Amino acid sequence: MCGIAGYIGHKDADQVLVVALERLKYRGYDSAGIAVIDNREIHLRRGVGKLKALSDLLERSPAPGTCGIAHTRWATHGAPTEANCHPHLSGDERIAVVHNGIIENHEELRRRLQAQGCVFRSETDTEVIPHLIAQYYNASPVRDPLAAIRQAVAGLEGSFAIAVMFADHPGRIIAARLGSPLLVGRGRRSPGAHSDRIAKADDRRRTDGGTPVDQRELMVASDVPALLPHASEVCFLADGQIADLGPHGVRLFTLDGKPEEARFKAIEVTADAVSKGSYDTFMAKEIAEQPSVLARLVDSRLNGGRLVDPDLGLDLAKVNHIVFLACGTSWHAALLGKRFLEHLARVHVEVDISSEYRYRNPVASGGTLVVSISQSGETADTLAGLRLARAKFIPVVSLVNVVTSTIARESNGVMPLLAGPEIGVASTKAYTAQVLALLLFAAQVARAKGLLDATAEAALVAACRALPEQAAATLAGAEDAVIEAADLFAAAQATVFLGRGGEHPTALEGALKLKEIAYVHAVGYPAGEFKHGPIALVSSHLPVICMCPKDALYEKMLSNLQEVRARAGRVIAVGEQGDRHLPELADLVFPVAKAGDDLLQPILSVLPLQRYAYHVARRRDCDVDQPRNLAKSVTVE
Ligand code: M6R
Repeated sequence: MCGIAGYIGHKDADQVLVVALERLKYRGYDSAGIAVIDNREIHLRRGVGKLKALSDLLERSPAPGTCGIAHTRWATHGAPTEANCHPHLSGDERIAVVHNGIIENHEELRRRLQAQGCVFRSETDTEVIPHLIAQYYNASPVRDPLAAIRQAVAGLEGSFAIAVMFADHPGRIIAARLGSPLLVGRGRRSPGAHSDRIAKADDRRRTDGGTPVDQRELMVASDVPALLPHASEVCFLADGQIADLGPHGVRLFTLDGKPEEARFKAIEVTADAVSKGSYDTFMAKEIAEQPSVLARLVDSRLNGGRLVDPDLGLDLAKVNHIVFLACGTSWHAALLGKRFLEHLARVHVEVDISSEYRYRNPVASGGTLVVSISQSGETADTLAGLRLARAKFIPVVSLVNVVTSTIARESNGVMPLLAGPEIGVASTKAYTAQVLALLLFAAQVARAKGLLDATAEAALVAACRALPEQAAATLAGAEDAVIEAADLFAAAQATVFLGRGGEHPTALEGALKLKEIAYVHAVGYPAGEFKHGPIALVSSHLPVICMCPKDALYEKMLSNLQEVRARAGRVIAVGEQGDRHLPELADLVFPVAKAGDDLLQPILSVLPLQRYAYHVARRRDCDVDQPRNLAKSVTVE
């Protein structure tokens, strides 16, 4: 989805903002642009395609100035052309706007503005915003930028995060949020800021409610990484807030103009955590981080031989119906969550795709709990589902990786994934962390209901503790076979993944990874369902990846595998390290360590599938971190 950045300080804004956009690339984009104010003029630079087009342009033609706004665009209305790139300008080119979200009433607004003489230069929904702001700004004798923005956004329907600059007000950026995430960053106080003069100004402003003058660099952005390294503190805008950044510091208001307090907190993410380090891609780095992510999560939730329950502010013993809300990979994790809860806590569970749930009229009883699962915590459909549930007075707890996200803030309770920033568009470490966190949640519910005795708890704890080492052994042990398989099958036009029980979600996840980063048509099936139609696809050109852990369904999986072989399909088996049958039955075997509890096995089985998708994608020359058409954080419907 689109990314927004803005900067006010003493450095060259174009340089700062290109780095900020670099850090927002993971959200998915197809063009980028920047506007900088200098000498009361707005200088616009825009480039289609990779960010390099914009940075090359800036090298040839720098945009001078120390205050600017910038944008990575993920096209919704209008193709990725230069005219459709943000920032968009008002007709007189005195106001520049960047926008993330969708203005649903843009057609009606455009018609009205055109009838009043506005000339549009793009096909975007966004362009109505600078024209509207300009109308209000120019019509008022006091020409107050804040008032003009408030009036303009009052007429917008849909979702937006915007940052706006006025040529008449250099050194000032006004940002507003409704539905799409936006945050304000503030740098460290510079040593000179404590002079008597500034201290006096500070005092004066404290009394009139403004943020003190303190010469700090100020930023706005869609996500924390874009603020680094210039900002040390962040303030998350709530829906319906406007932030006014300028020489006065940061002032917050509601959309109807009521002043609000700006609460800043220290940024904990470091620039290192959002860089590739020694890896060639974020995806490779994030796959490799999984043993340490699992260890961190285990350490946070286990004390000796016992589980430590997070306080979710609910009596879990009374929960008798759980609804999971999630999209994409998080939905696959939810499918496993259902298995865990049914097995350990005997609770009735539904797994809903957020975009379906939000448009139904779901039934809720007294004992219903909604659990939303989201790496980013900003997925628009999951957030809408959460809000629908809360409107029906259903309590909501969330599993999120970004604990400062909107979903986390709007939930009754939060279970953090502790996976660290996930930048690659394909979710890897967040998925395995979600699955483990769901198992721990199921154990918490089971314990609250008196269904997990001390012996069973100790066994589960031991299995969790062993998991990080098993994950490391699996990643190392399967790599050669994964590379061989990628060499053999990278050119295949389709791939099928089969799994039963807990490995059915693994099959779905393996297929999604291959589709999204290698652009190979891939499908996952419950293996028992394969013969009811999809088996017709099998030929000597079709790789079929069969999940064959040694669990209660092992024999059944071997039968499915034989059925594929009998039709000349090419079989890759994913099975236990040392399994003597699989090498005889399959073209290749991805060996996986055996988890201490069958419930945890899918966390290990998915690891070689992530690496397989990665290697196939590299052989097909695909950009694994920013696959075409995709966005990391899907903040529009
Ligand atoms: O941030 P979320 O977990 O809510 O995101 C949900 C999906 O958009 C996400 O899992 C998507 O399917 C990934 N690209 C999968 O790798």
